[in-house]
Amino acid sequence: MCGITGAVGLKDISNQLFEGIRNLEYRGYDSCGVALMNGKRAIVVKKNVGYVDDVYKKENVLQHQGHTGIAHTRWATHGQVTKNNTHPFSSCDKKFAVVHNGIISNYQALRKQLKAEGHKFISDTDTEVVPHLLEKFYQETGSVEAAFVNTLRQLEGSYAIAFISIHQPDQIFCARRESPLLLGIDDEVKYVGSDFNAFIDHTKNAVIMDDDEYAIVSRDAYVVKSTVTQEVVAKPVTRIEWDSETTRKGGYPHYMLKEIYEQPQTINNALDVDEKKMDEFVDLLDKKATAQLVGVGTTFYVTMYANYIFSQISGKYIPAISSDEFVSLSPVDGDSFVLAISQSGETYDTISALKHAKAQGAATGAIVNVMGSTISRLVDKTILQGSGPEICVISTKAALAQMVILTHMALKLGLRRKRITQRQYKASLKSLHDLPEVINGILNERSGFIHRIAHQHRNVKNWLYLGRGIYYPIALESALKMKEVAYVHAEGMPCGFLKHGTLAMIDDDVYSIVFIPPKSDKAMYQATLASVAEIRARSGFVLGIHFDERGKDKELFSEELIIPQVPDIVAPFIHLVISQLLAYFTATSLKRNVDKPRSLAKSVTVG
Ligand code: F6R
Repeated sequence: MCGITGAVGLKDISNQLFEGIRNLEYRGYDSCGVALMNGKRAIVVKKNVGYVDDVYKKENVLQHQGHTGIAHTRWATHGQVTKNNTHPFSSCDKKFAVVHNGIISNYQALRKQLKAEGHKFISDTDTEVVPHLLEKFYQETGSVEAAFVNTLRQLEGSYAIAFISIHQPDQIFCARRESPLLLGIDDEVKYVGSDFNAFIDHTKNAVIMDDDEYAIVSRDAYVVKSTVTQEVVAKPVTRIEWDSETTRKGGYPHYMLKEIYEQPQTINNALDVDEKKMDEFVDLLDKKATAQLVGVGTTFYVTMYANYIFSQISGKYIPAISSDEFVSLSPVDGDSFVLAISQSGETYDTISALKHAKAQGAATGAIVNVMGSTISRLVDKTILQGSGPEICVISTKAALAQMVILTHMALKLGLRRKRITQRQYKASLKSLHDLPEVINGILNERSGFIHRIAHQHRNVKNWLYLGRGIYYPIALESALKMKEVAYVHAEGMPCGFLKHGTLAMIDDDVYSIVFIPPKSDKAMYQATLASVAEIRARSGFVLGIHFDERGKDKELFSEELIIPQVPDIVAPFIHLVISQLLAYFTATSLKRNVDKPRSLAKSVTVG
């Protein structure tokens, strides 16, 4: 889970490289580095620990110019976060400089062999075997391309690799297997990147590389070949629809807030997805004997939400399985449909789950946000959710959009299975279409109150997020937001768990947030209030979020956030948006690094 970029032009490309690596920083940001072809005689490598801006300053990177270069922003997987472990890595003769994303699983054996042959290693990383292999095979073959192919054939595991070499100073060589890699095609300059953000400021034309392909990229040409056969592969040029302005902050202090405020628009986009595609998914969900939903982290909670909504609306039980547990847990065969949810489309665990499902003969589908991503191309059918780039590492707008698409799908399935009438279908769909307006209202009218609560309780050390039924996955996702952006301990839990042990924890140091359902579900409403009473009886603090405009007895809640009444089907969305804001404002009150919180990367491309 790192970011790679590269650029090759006639003139100096050091600025393009800088912008590219900065735009990719959300993929990993514990250290970064650059390799530039300095004239035709030497490669300058600059790297260090820290954010891109800091490393550029510390290492005076922009003092160096070059017409060919690669850069890397790292998220440590092998070895500590140290300067020595930072990419790029060089061969002993300094004639190759390499950056890599992924994990080379047989690196220890390769390293041992290369050391025995006299190669010197400076890092603990898996990547460092690559420049040494290139050097070795170049000495044997006298050809950079042959050295590259021989090297790739030695590697097991996953990789996106890019390198430059003194032997062919006007070219970038790159390859992929199970880690994303694209080429950016412009007249004057060609780019290499882990995703579009690496070059979106310069070109919207991209070539998406597939597994076991490598490319040789020059200023005015590129060729993509198969690593297996070395034959040229004809690749279409894809036009990227996102513009660079969309990827910027647009006046918000953080991408997280911008993306929370973009949700009314992303809901509209989610409701606009290709109806025919939706119907194909509904067909599979209906006809296959079993169906499973997979995702991990936030997208696992999205699948849990979907598990409830499919059961409730369509009567079909479609279990949610965390991608990382899928292989151990889920029996699938030719009569199964596995539906994956992923913002990035690059998450290792979800890719592994899908590969397993495919190997068992299951049909596969995915809802993803990133066009051309690995998952979108791995599955039989893809729905692009159209949420636009989600730059903040914390997922907000993408998850909400996925919930909308899955709710729409559940309605369609419910209609087909005659669990709901046309009238109910239309009314529910209208509620979804009205949701953007409701969320706009919450964002505009309630954020002041949420900000006040967040600031006032910023030093609370433990939060319990509680909900019943479909509000349980909302509680889990809400707690995750608090943990990952504010670094505050938060647990999501079904209310029913309280009296099975958790009540023992209630004291002055444990605060609770309870998601109260609309009153129309009388049994669940009353059961949820009973849980609030259990906490209050132990003098625990409760923030109640509810739809009862008359307000509640002061004794019942310590704080209450009252939301205008909405149709039941959209109530969970409102709770989630409030929780996103609560997590955001707590994080800003605690001066956290909101868009790049610690220990979290946007695309977790390793297992
Ligand atoms: C949480 C978060 C992660 C991701 C998870 C899956 O805010 O961002 O938990 O949801 O890594 O990522 P995708 O959806 O890209 O597969």
